[in-house]
Amino acid sequence: MTATLITNIGELTTNVGALRDATVLIEDGLISWVGPSAGSAAESGSGSPPMPAADEIVDAGGRAVIPGFVDSHSHIVFGGDRAAEFEARMAGQKYAAGGIRSTVAATREASDDELRARVRGFVDEMLAQGTTTVEMKSGYGLDVETEQRLVRLAAEVTEEVTYLGAHVVPVEYADRGDDYVDLVVGEMLDACAPHAKWIDVFCETGAFSITQSRRVLEAGIARGLKPRVHASQLGPGDGVQLAIELGAASVDHGTYLTDDDVAALAASDTVLTLLPGVEFSTRQPYPDARRLIDAGVTVAIACDTNPGSSFTSSMPFCIALAVREMGMTPAEAVWAATAGGAAALQRSDIGVIAPGRRADLVLLDAPTHVHLAYRPGVPLVQRVWKDGVSVWRKG
Ligand code: NIG
Ligand code: FE
Repeated sequence: MTATLITNIGELTTNVGALRDATVLIEDGLISWVGPSAGSAAESGSGSPPMPAADEIVDAGGRAVIPGFVDSHSHIVFGGDRAAEFEARMAGQKYAAGGIRSTVAATREASDDELRARVRGFVDEMLAQGTTTVEMKSGYGLDVETEQRLVRLAAEVTEEVTYLGAHVVPVEYADRGDDYVDLVVGEMLDACAPHAKWIDVFCETGAFSITQSRRVLEAGIARGLKPRVHASQLGPGDGVQLAIELGAASVDHGTYLTDDDVAALAASDTVLTLLPGVEFSTRQPYPDARRLIDAGVTVAIACDTNPGSSFTSSMPFCIALAVREMGMTPAEAVWAATAGGAAALQRSDIGVIAPGRRADLVLLDAPTHVHLAYRPGVPLVQRVWKDGVSVWRKG
């Protein structure tokens, strides 16, 4: 059994109460003890338990430690990129769901090894920015063989794999959306379900109608997959209500929520996952997180890393946007990017620093979590542990 003690933590964000001058003990991949640092004011004379012994001691030097980020929404198994589309958008063109089809063509052409190398590159990039858990969707294959390749490749690197055969209707099914849905809930589901945990659908004008979305989600649920939904990204719609009705873990985007959507979310167990990188990169209005949180909605933040609507993999960047543009406090944004992401994936073993949870931790090169929003664009991640193993460090 190896034990690592991270001590002299200036500010420890646990998501079950912040601590100053703290110490965390990691044993066998789990957090086994959280308490005051030796000689800290909290310890002296307070009768708190003695600091346990360890094989390795890491001095955090008064800096902040937070849980590893849980990025609950990404589409990183794809070929090519769409930089030209982004450039055109910045010159005034509107984002439309149809751009997905050009990534589908590039993805179908890419070999497994090319896609694998790409995914591993993104995962490393994410790790260096403090992300220790990432969900990955298929959705750039849109034929049976390629969708199955995508969920299989995703499953090589994460347990949070989502089958998104219903991302958009592929060109070969133009004007035959219902026929494509037959495939998605039939042969394609058969091929993908063994590799996936989640079923998702892009419920939006230009993608799938509410009736089609219901078919997709119900077929996935019948196969043992758990539902999550893309909804209200390009305009208001019924996707949020459908997600809640079917007990989705999360409904994602929510750029155009009605008052009824907000009330229904607040009364439900469905998390609303905000994706501020999308509004940044598509020049759409930022949704009002303040309104959601004040109404009692559980809010997560994720990157939605994809070549079209949001090609950032940086949770710190998304936190900065959520604070600056969506009205969240820095503490709320960090919660949403850690415990919120865990809730969106229905995971109770991550997102919190407490005994018995997985030791997924980020040491920041900053005195407090506030710096994540206060110093946007600055690489503040000093060191990352995943399952108790030091997997990344700066310099
Ligand atoms: O989450 N909304 C649908 N899917 C992605 C966009 C994919 C793309 O443009 O390639 C999203 O924003
Ligand atoms: Fe998405």
